[in-house]
Amino acid sequence: MFVLRTVVTRLRATRPRWLLAGVVALAAAGCASDAPQDTLDPAGPAARSIDNLFGPVFLVAVVVFVLVQGLIIYMVVRFRRRDDDDTSFPPQLHGNTRLEVGWTILPALVLAVVAVFTVPVIFELNEEPDNALQVSVKGQKYWWGYSYPDQEMVPGGGIVTANELHIPAGKPVFLTLESEDVIHSFWAPRLNGKRDVVPGRIHTWTVEADDPGVYSGQCAEFCGTSHANMRLKVVAHDKDDWQQWVSGQQEDPVVPTEGLAAEGYEVFGQLCATCHVVGGQYDEVAETSPSAPNLTHLYSRDCFAGCIYDLNDRNELEAWLRNPQRKAGSLMVIGELTEVQIDQLHAYLTTLE
Ligand code: CUA
Repeated sequence: MFVLRTVVTRLRATRPRWLLAGVVALAAAGCASDAPQDTLDPAGPAARSIDNLFGPVFLVAVVVFVLVQGLIIYMVVRFRRRDDDDTSFPPQLHGNTRLEVGWTILPALVLAVVAVFTVPVIFELNEEPDNALQVSVKGQKYWWGYSYPDQEMVPGGGIVTANELHIPAGKPVFLTLESEDVIHSFWAPRLNGKRDVVPGRIHTWTVEADDPGVYSGQCAEFCGTSHANMRLKVVAHDKDDWQQWVSGQQEDPVVPTEGLAAEGYEVFGQLCATCHVVGGQYDEVAETSPSAPNLTHLYSRDCFAGCIYDLNDRNELEAWLRNPQRKAGSLMVIGELTEVQIDQLHAYLTTLE
């Protein structure tokens, strides 16, 4: 700590501010204790195989860095201009075949060795694992939608959800990704690397979590004004929880028949159901509508609107209903609601468990 403080004090006295800011930012980044998207803390096989490469490759890079920087410092000191030296130029040299061949072949060799270990992993990561759970993923401005084709066979219909990807722990999950609009990139750093999602193409990717837990992620390709607000969550369940989640998702919620919730059901039908599906209640959306999250089991999730707001915080939901543009570029268009309508909608939405 003392050393750091001395360095900072010195820098402050002698160097421009940006340098100080850079050093402090680096120190802070290195010290982050709460880093839910730490790629160096893998929580599944795919992320681990990437991390296993990172260590050795980083080591090679450090050796090269120390060697090159060490030689530069040595040269600067060894061949510095001395006080008694009054020649205006050092001897000028051109070409040194041995050196040039050396510094071409040596890096090529280093990269070849790195490639021997890296290339097979790239292929492995792209293979479809056996017995994987299939999930279709759609990236759009600015949220991720998920559907589970395997589960459609079961009576009660398929599972469609948004923002939160629910998976069983300890089982590979094979994602088929598409984009609705522009290029997005699916990234849950503790489970696997990034996968770009290009419109008009179908991409695949595997995630697997060793243990139950919540693994956060985000869109990793600039996609517009709310790119930074396009987060995601992967929720891995143990066996029993998973079964429970699946059967919960397959059951349609009950239509409320009295009170605020019933009024909210009507308001929803007038204002929201042209875009949002609620299974068994509002199944048809207008074809011209922008794609919107399926809300059938909204309250089985914790977050909404690209996972940037806490669903369990009523204020967040109400603020959203008052002005969906609080998340810049949101495609949700809703006229000005009265406070009564907002209460009614909130009451109805909470029935969608
Ligand atoms: Cu989607 Cu950035």
